[in-house]
Amino acid sequence: MKIAIGCDHGAFEYKEEIRNMLESEGHIVTDCGCYSSEAVDYPDIAVKTANMVVSGEADTGIVMCGTGIGISMAANKVKGIRCGLCTDTTMARLTREHNDANMLAMGARIIGIELAKDIVHAYLSTPFSNGERHVKRIEKLMAEEKAD
Ligand code: RB5
Repeated sequence: MKIAIGCDHGAFEYKEEIRNMLESEGHIVTDCGCYSSEAVDYPDIAVKTANMVVSGEADTGIVMCGTGIGISMAANKVKGIRCGLCTDTTMARLTREHNDANMLAMGARIIGIELAKDIVHAYLSTPFSNGERHVKRIEKLMAEEKAD
């Protein structure tokens, strides 16, 4: 898959590990930064990563910050993005099955790297259920952003 990844300084080392894992598994990864532990603003990275997903340059995006909260909030401001903040593999599976998430967020100060790797695998390997009730809810969700 083509995967865009991004993080702020709170998750720099963590992002490096996730990128190495994805590349070793054969994914084509675009690293949207940050590129060191120097402080950056998570909205800048989230928007850069999310834009790769909405433009189709990436099939999906993975963003990380200290908690995962700020960077997921920022990604979800980009039209077309449904970014799920996950702290376990069940959430990762369900955000694909139910929400058809096109981005995953995680918090480096919240969950360990081994669990994060399992979450990424659960997220990437789960298809959207295409269930009628879920399709209807996602359509309502996306209609909200078209309203403004
Ligand atoms: C950075 O210190 C921290 O605020 C950020 O990584 C994140 O947790 C924000 O939501």
